[in-house]
Amino acid sequence: MKFLSKYIKKYWVSFCIAVLFLTFEAVCDLLQPTIMAKIIDKGVARKDIHYVLQMGGLMLAITAFGAVSAGTRSVIASIVSQNFGTELRFDLFKKIQTMSFKNLDQFDRASLITRLTNDVTQVQVFVNGLMRIFVKSPLLAIGGLVMAVRLNLHLAVVLAIVVPIVALLIVFNMRLGLPRFSKVQKALDGVNGVMREYLSGVRVVKAFNHFDVEVAKFTKANEHYKNQAVAANRLMSIFSPAIMLTVNLGIVVVLWIGGWGVRSGTIQVGHIIAFINYMTQISMSLMMISMVFNMYVRARASAGRIGEVFLQEDSIAWDRGSFNTRTEKGRIDFENVTFAYASSTEPVLKNINLTILPGETVGIIGSTGSGKSTLVGLISRFYDVSSGMIRVDGEDIKQINPKVLREKIALVPQKNILFTGSVAENIRWGKEDATKAEVEQAARTAGAHDFIIAAPEGYETMIGQGGVNFSGGQKQRISIARALVKRPEILILDDSTSAVDVTTEAKIKKALKTYAKGLTCLLIAQRITSIMDADKIVVLDHGEIVGIGTHQELIKECSVYQEIYRSQMGKEVQ
Ligand SMILES: Nc1ncnc2c1ncn2[C@@H]1O[C@H](COP(=O)(O)OP(=O)(O)OP(=O)(O)O)[C@@H](O)[C@H]1O
Ligand SMILES: [Mg+2]
Repeated sequence: MKFLSKYIKKYWVSFCIAVLFLTFEAVCDLLQPTIMAKIIDKGVARKDIHYVLQMGGLMLAITAFGAVSAGTRSVIASIVSQNFGTELRFDLFKKIQTMSFKNLDQFDRASLITRLTNDVTQVQVFVNGLMRIFVKSPLLAIGGLVMAVRLNLHLAVVLAIVVPIVALLIVFNMRLGLPRFSKVQKALDGVNGVMREYLSGVRVVKAFNHFDVEVAKFTKANEHYKNQAVAANRLMSIFSPAIMLTVNLGIVVVLWIGGWGVRSGTIQVGHIIAFINYMTQISMSLMMISMVFNMYVRARASAGRIGEVFLQEDSIAWDRGSFNTRTEKGRIDFENVTFAYASSTEPVLKNINLTILPGETVGIIGSTGSGKSTLVGLISRFYDVSSGMIRVDGEDIKQINPKVLREKIALVPQKNILFTGSVAENIRWGKEDATKAEVEQAARTAGAHDFIIAAPEGYETMIGQGGVNFSGGQKQRISIARALVKRPEILILDDSTSAVDVTTEAKIKKALKTYAKGLTCLLIAQRITSIMDADKIVVLDHGEIVGIGTHQELIKECSVYQEIYRSQMGKEVQ
C-alpha cells in the first residue's frame, strides 16, 4: 500500500478540514438527546413554556449548524475523493504504459482492466467514505457512550455488556469477509476475461458457430461470480441483523430497568428517552462501523491488487546513456544470445550469433514457433536477453535509453494493430508531423495508396475498432506505411506481406528498394519467394540458427532451407 502515501501527502490537509466539519456534525447530533431530555424533564414536567421555547430554539440552531457543517464536509469529501480517484487511475495507467513486456506478461489483460476501473473506484469510494461515515461513526459511538454514561450510570451497565458483544461480532465479520471479497474480485476478473476474449474473437466465434460454447463459458464465469458475491454477502447479512438484535435487546433491558426507576422515582422520563436515543445512535454507528469494515475489506483487496501493479520493478532501465554519434548507422550484432520467456525455463533462442550490416536486407525464415518474432522483438528490447549481448550501431542496447533505441527502429508487427482514427492519422503514428506528401509517399511505397484513395473519404476514411473495415492485406499495407513514414534506420517487417498477393508483394519490395535506400531491413517471411533475393538469409530452427547465407549458398548447404524450398516450390533442389 506504499503507493497511497503520495496521495495522503497531497490531500491530508483537505482531509483534516473535512474531518473537522464532520466532528462538528457529530457533536451537533450528540447534543440533541440531552437537550430533549431537559425539555421533557424541566420544561414539560414543570409546564414552563418559556423554557421549552428557549431550548427548542437552541435545538434548531444546533441542527442548522450541523446541516451547514454536513454540507461543507460533503463538498470537500467529493472534491478530494474525485481528484484522488482520477489521479490514481492516471498513475496506474501510466505505470502500465511504461511496464516492460516481461512485467506485463505476468498480468492477465482483463485483470488490468478491472484494476484500472473497478479497483480504483472501490478505493475511491472508501476514501470518500472515510470523510463521511467512517470517522463520524466512531465519533458518534464513543460520544454517545460518554453522553449516556453522564446521563445515567446505572443504565450504562447495559452498554457495558452490549458494546463488547457488538465489537466482537464486527471483528469476526471482518476476519471472515476479507478472503471472500478477494474471491469476488477474482471472479469478476473471470467475467471480464471471457468477455474480452469473446469480443476480440467475435468473427471467429461466428464463423465457427461457437455461440453456444461462448454462452456456456460466459454463463459459467457469470454464475461463479454470482455465487462468490452471494457467499460474501450472505456472510454480511448474518452479521448485520445479529448486531441489530443485540442492540435491540439492550434497549428492551433499558426500558425495563427505566420503567422500574420511573416508578420508584429514581429516574426521570426524559432521561430514559434520551438514553434510548443515545443507544440508538450508538447502535446505528456500530452498524455503520460494520459496513465501514465491509467497505474497508473491499477497498483493501482492491488497493492490494493496484499495489501489485505499482510494485512491479521495471525490468528495463529507461534513462541510461544515449548513442554516440556514430557513422555506422543501422548495424545489428547478436553475440551469443540466449533467451527464455519468464513463463518457462526452456530457451526460445539459443546461442544466436549474427551480424547485420548497415543497409543490408536480411531475410529470416523458419517454421512457426522457431523464434523469428522473438528474435526481432529483442532488438527493440521488448525483453532483455537471458545471456549474451545485442548491439545496435555497436552499442550494447542495455546501455541505451529504450526510447532512443526505438526511435531508430520501425517494426511492423506480425499481428496488425490499427487504432481508431482516420487512415492518415494511423500512418502518422510513425511520425506525428509528417506532411501530406510524406504520408502519401509512404503509402505508395507500401502499396496502399490506390486502395486508400478508392475508399469513400480517401485518407480521411475512419478506421473502425481494430480496423474492421479494411481487409487483412490492406491493414498490413497501412501498417507498413506507418513504419515507413518514420524513416527509421532499421526496418523490421514481421511476416508483413503474408496476406498480400504475390504480385503486390513484388511491387512493394521493388518500391521499398528505392524508398529505403541505405536502410537496414529485416524481413521475416513464411514464403521463400518473399526473401529469396535478400542480401543474406537467416534460417531458424527450434530457436537456433541453422544457416546463414544467400539463397544460392543455402540451397547448397542448408538442409532445413532445402526442405522448405522443396515443400514450397514443389520441386527438388537442382
Ligand atoms: N510472450 C510469450 N511468452 C511465452 N512464450 C512465448 C511468448 N511469445 C512467444 N512464445 C513462445 O516462443 C516460441 C517462439 O515464438 P515466436 O513468436 O518467436 O515464433 P515465430 O517464429 O515468430 O512463429 P510464427 O512463424 O508462427 O510467427 C514459441 O514456442 C512460443 O510459444
Ligand atoms: Mg512470429
